[in-house]
Amino acid sequence: MKLLEDRIRKDGVVLGADVLKVDNFLNHQVDPDLMLAVGKEFYNQFKDSKITKILTVESSGIAPALATAMSFHVPLVFARKHKSLTLKDDMFTATVYSFTKQTSNTIAIAKKFLSADDKVLIIDDFLANGQAVQGLTDIIKQAGAETVGAGIVIEKTFQKGRKMFDDQGVRVVSLARIAAFEDGQVVFADEQDA
Ligand code: G4P
Repeated sequence: MKLLEDRIRKDGVVLGADVLKVDNFLNHQVDPDLMLAVGKEFYNQFKDSKITKILTVESSGIAPALATAMSFHVPLVFARKHKSLTLKDDMFTATVYSFTKQTSNTIAIAKKFLSADDKVLIIDDFLANGQAVQGLTDIIKQAGAETVGAGIVIEKTFQKGRKMFDDQGVRVVSLARIAAFEDGQVVFADEQDA
């Protein structure tokens, strides 16, 4: 998605070897027009899949997930994160390890918001090691619902998340695919392929 790649070039800041800071438009200050465009693009990609629910994890997934839910006119449910959670019978839970932050969180969704007849589209801001999306697919499985696919705003193709979902047969659509960071600059996968 050209609009997004241009914005990453303009406002993204490369930190170290593998982190892109996008707090100017995605995960701290949020650009609503860009989010609307992101939501419309995910709608175009998945509109034939009879999606009934959008799922994400708080907090940074919520902005693109809400924009997507507005295009589909279906509810958005975001998993809540807890350092440690007293297990409750009325929640589906999964453990998510963050390689980036080196912390573990339990993510939880109330059972009343996910059922066996749901066809679910997962939305997240980043696909890096795939832990967040994996946690959500686990929860969808527990509910007996179907994961239709995952819509990712920014994928880092050099980390292992994409391969994990290709191996599981989960359809992943990423709007910007970053192949590498070189000398503080972003190299997109489509530039590398060209
Ligand atoms: P995953 O996102 O594929 O699960 O991989 P990883 O475990 O590496 O990522 C953990 C957290 O770090 C996630 O946020 C993810 O969005 C974020 N992250 C991963 N790579 C980048 C990056 O290059 N830039 C930025 N800004 N964030 C990155 P989280 O723990 O869910 O936190 P939150 O921000 O949603 O609250």
